[in-house]
Amino acid sequence: MNVYDGQRMAELLGANGMTAAVDGADADLVVLNTCHIREKAAEKAYSEVGRLRREDGSKPLVALAGCVAQAEGGEAKRRSPMIDMVVGPQAYHRLPEMVAQAVRGGRPVDTDMPAISKFDAFPTRRRANPSSFLTIQEGCDKFCTYCVVPYTRGAEISRPEKDIVLEARELVDAGAREIVMLGQNVNAWSYDGRGFADLIRALADIDGLERIRYTTSHPMDMSDDLIAAHAEVAKLMPYLHLPVQSGSNRILKAMNRSHTAETYLAILEKMRAARPDIALSGDFIVGFPGETEEDFTATLNLVDEVGYASAYSFKYSPRPGTPAATMEDQIATEIMDDRLQRLQARIIAHQVAFNRASVGKETEVLIERRGKYPGQMIGKSPWLQSVHVETDATPGDILPVALTAAGPNSLTGALLTKAAA
Ligand code: 5AD
Ligand code: SF4
Repeated sequence: MNVYDGQRMAELLGANGMTAAVDGADADLVVLNTCHIREKAAEKAYSEVGRLRREDGSKPLVALAGCVAQAEGGEAKRRSPMIDMVVGPQAYHRLPEMVAQAVRGGRPVDTDMPAISKFDAFPTRRRANPSSFLTIQEGCDKFCTYCVVPYTRGAEISRPEKDIVLEARELVDAGAREIVMLGQNVNAWSYDGRGFADLIRALADIDGLERIRYTTSHPMDMSDDLIAAHAEVAKLMPYLHLPVQSGSNRILKAMNRSHTAETYLAILEKMRAARPDIALSGDFIVGFPGETEEDFTATLNLVDEVGYASAYSFKYSPRPGTPAATMEDQIATEIMDDRLQRLQARIIAHQVAFNRASVGKETEVLIERRGKYPGQMIGKSPWLQSVHVETDATPGDILPVALTAAGPNSLTGALLTKAAA
């Protein structure tokens, strides 16, 4: 989502007469888009800001944006005289106005979370990546006890369907072949009585749009209708990122996850019944307060049971203001390091197995960019694997390939027939 936000801020500033600096060091304005989800986010942001001072003592205009800006607010200006603007994730549309104020010597702060849509302020796009992000939903009402998102991104809010379809059409006209719908709880999207599966079907009707993906989902909002869409909508790619966080019901309860290992597995079973080839992905946190070796073993067992195609895993990071930060039995770093290593080894083993099992398949690859070698292009399989193909095709082409070899992080594909543009 920060990538999407960054692109939109750049487009908005572009529409207001600015151009991207070739070298960051020459920039008149630097926007630092920050994430607050884990680790020492605020400290990292301030040290990054400090580095923007030039050798001759001059400095660019500096805007602190994103969730650290949201969490720090006006305090950011007190902590660093380098910071001229503080702009939270719901206030990006005000950036040009804030820059104008800063040029006049002001130090504006905007961390409001208005219900009205910032999206209306963003300009029309002329160029889009073959695979383009589209934010359809923001915020979170789930309040997992470790997570800062409900505080920094605010309550769950869905964009109107007509705005989303309009933006999707605009992206397709500008070159997108695939749209990745984004939201902190993307599958909680609902508007005017329409649900997420309805939205998927509406996007599937757009000519020229060939692939639809979405991320990230909460198990609570995996409706039967959404699962059915995976069986019916050909453009919906066979990939699901469904974070579980832990395999231990005791920890899941302490996390306020509202699902158990069993209810999570039941959802995946239904999903596999609807779309047998679906690639599954997830998120895990190790070392949540009170996590025992037994709890952790339950997580390893769940990984084995699911057989993820890929997954993200993190060490628990206490976030100021969240309930878990003050829970007893915080876990020592060494224990977290050890568990993370063991979990990642297990995940990678499944990832390698998944990729190897793909070898021999004939499928389609959406070409996204050039590879390292002349004549080599890199694209994505329907299961979101990176595939290297020797071809003179260009980004945006969708090519029929045979998958011929697999490594842990990518596959090799051989072109089957001439490019179908
Ligand atoms: N510590 C570690 N990981 C976290 N995540 C969210 N909050 C924390 C935290 N405090 C992880 C979760 C989530 C992903 C986006 O980040 O796994 O799904
Ligand atoms: Fe954070 Fe996701 Fe839980 Fe919301 S559902 S509180 S974003 S981990």
